[in-house]
Amino acid sequence: MQFLRRLGCGPVTPVDVPIALLGYGTVGAAVHRLLVETGDDIERLTGRRLRVTRALVRDLAKERGFAPEDGVLTTDAEEILGDGEIALAAELMGGLEPAGSYVLSLLERGVSVVTANKQLVAHRSPELFAAAARGGAQLRFEACVCAAIPVIKVLREALVATHVHRVLGIVNGTTNFVLGEMEAGRTYEEALAEAQRLGYAEADPVDDVSGADAAAKMAILASVAFGARVAPEDVEVEGIEAVRPEHVAAARALEMTVKLVGQATLANGAADVRVGPALVDRHHPLAAVEGAFNAVMLQGDAIREITLSGPGAGGIETASAVVADLVSIVGTSGPGFLQDDPARRSLARADADAIRSPFYVRVDVDDRPGVLARVAGQLAVEGVSVARLVQNQTDAGATLHIVTHEAPVGSVARSVRAIAAMPETLEPPTALRVVSDRGVEELGWT
Ligand code: NAP
Ligand code: HSE
Repeated sequence: MQFLRRLGCGPVTPVDVPIALLGYGTVGAAVHRLLVETGDDIERLTGRRLRVTRALVRDLAKERGFAPEDGVLTTDAEEILGDGEIALAAELMGGLEPAGSYVLSLLERGVSVVTANKQLVAHRSPELFAAAARGGAQLRFEACVCAAIPVIKVLREALVATHVHRVLGIVNGTTNFVLGEMEAGRTYEEALAEAQRLGYAEADPVDDVSGADAAAKMAILASVAFGARVAPEDVEVEGIEAVRPEHVAAARALEMTVKLVGQATLANGAADVRVGPALVDRHHPLAAVEGAFNAVMLQGDAIREITLSGPGAGGIETASAVVADLVSIVGTSGPGFLQDDPARRSLARADADAIRSPFYVRVDVDDRPGVLARVAGQLAVEGVSVARLVQNQTDAGATLHIVTHEAPVGSVARSVRAIAAMPETLEPPTALRVVSDRGVEELGWT
């Protein structure tokens, strides 16, 4: 607060900016390290020395990735919340509470906050932005989405004059890493354990594999891109828990790869936001996104398409975005145009029949005359056209791998329900979106 007041009056003089970190784990320790290692550069740029003076943790005895100075760590939140010298804070704890209460308390008393906590921002941004407005403080959240990739800054600043109507991307590093490792022959369990060891996964990795982490990020991206309030509850979400090695193998045979894909579409004043496993054509830019990397494709009226890609998880990668936000606050103290709450209007949920996609449908059936025709018939009833069909014999019968032409999501869902109810169907069918910008004819599928 004193720091902001000082910035508001008189000439800029070099001054320490005392910073509190709420959380000193994978990201928190990396933020401290970056602030120390780039301190001279930041001071040259801003005339300010950003110093971590307090950091909140649960366990003082735990070994830290970058050791803080003596007396910096505390387990008492009040030592930070009640410290009038703290000028800026970064919330790097995770979880809705107590992180939410701490952030609200700081914003209310005019301390600007940077957070990497996508669940907090996705679930409670109206409340948080209202507190920031009352306190005259800033709330920044670049690190919530795609770690090192500056997609929030691009959407909020660089594309402010563009009507963005579609966001498509890979926004979770852990699941992208796990699916890639499965393709290389590792088991799901081995790959997830490695992602946790590398610091990519959330404290509870169920958030990653269930799609909850990606859903929060897509809700934030859709809110910022569409200038609307999109809550996590508005996102259709499916995780990767049900993806089996045979899905990965089938995708490879079809020259595709399985990815957890997020998609937000704004059409006719309605929004459709979804996250789920999808088959991505090998030639599509998202297919090349490997390991814990992320990529976001932004489509809009004036820009046509912009793709941003880079590291989507990891301590130092995320710290890069946190430090950039801290420096940006120092450079734009006081409420600026970035303080506008993206929650401006409410959008209807789009009807599933208004959204179209090609699909991959896998169904295990009895190998009897007429069964294939009946499966095709259930698709035809809904106007879903088959682009490619592969049949493999199995001990129990036959597995049909069907790639459809683009069709309404609702029609495919109804067809798949009807196929599931056929007496000849042996297992519940799988239906996954196909991500491809190439025509099926070009691939020789007709
Ligand atoms: P982490 O390694 O588990 O660190 C969490 C830190 O917060 C720890 O220092 C922990 O203390 C402290 N903490 C948690 N609950 C607390 C409580 N109730 N009271 C006091 N201290 C508490 O997690 P992380 O990977 O750094 O992630 C932090 C945040 O960044 C999360 O919101 C996450 O979603 C986000 N994020 C992470 C990544 C990534 O790649 N890791 C990327 C982007 C965003 P102890 O150390 O004593 O346990
Ligand atoms: N657990 C998250 C991921 C961290 O794997 O993408 C980055 O937000």
